[in-house]
Amino acid sequence: MTADDAARMEAALLAVADAGIDIRHALFDRFLDAFPHRRAAFLNLDAASRRMTDETLQAMFGLAQGEGWVWPQIAELVVTHRNYGTLTAAEYDAFVDMAVDALAVAAGTAWDADCDAAWRRQAAALKAMIHRALAEWQAALPEVRRRAAG
Ligand code: HEM
Repeated sequence: MTADDAARMEAALLAVADAGIDIRHALFDRFLDAFPHRRAAFLNLDAASRRMTDETLQAMFGLAQGEGWVWPQIAELVVTHRNYGTLTAAEYDAFVDMAVDALAVAAGTAWDADCDAAWRRQAAALKAMIHRALAEWQAALPEVRRRAAG
């Protein structure tokens, strides 16, 4: 199942690359419209939008391929993102879903129901992994617990 997912996901990535579309612009416009109070945290939006978009897509593709690096990378990302504020699971979920939405638009006719199911399945796995990282850091670090409690 995940090998099929990886093949379908790669086909969409290649279609978007062939079309020369950089999805980060649409993704960040939508994300920052939904969470305008986060705009000020981006000191270098151009650099961050490239890395956040690439790493989100790579994490989902890596999960489809059963790659072991995804969990440590996500665990590290969640703890370092505390520097940018107390980010909620809902914000992470929205970012991941919006990344897939932006990819779907950019892929055009290369995006079919099977491709959509593959990306959505790996998006769900990534969101679950982020939730686990949020919960584990909260349990491990008292100051994270205090901040989450408000
Ligand atoms: C799967 C989700 C995400 C991934 C993979 C991701 C990844 C990254 C990466 C790789 C960087 C660059 C770090 C560096 O250069 O040192 C970054 C920066 C940043 N991220 Fe994320 N991120 C995610 C979600 C979020 C969310 C939901 C927010 C909410 C606001 C956010 C806010 C930021 C901010 C404020 C920066 C720093 C920007 C700057 O200094 O200009 N990220 N992120």
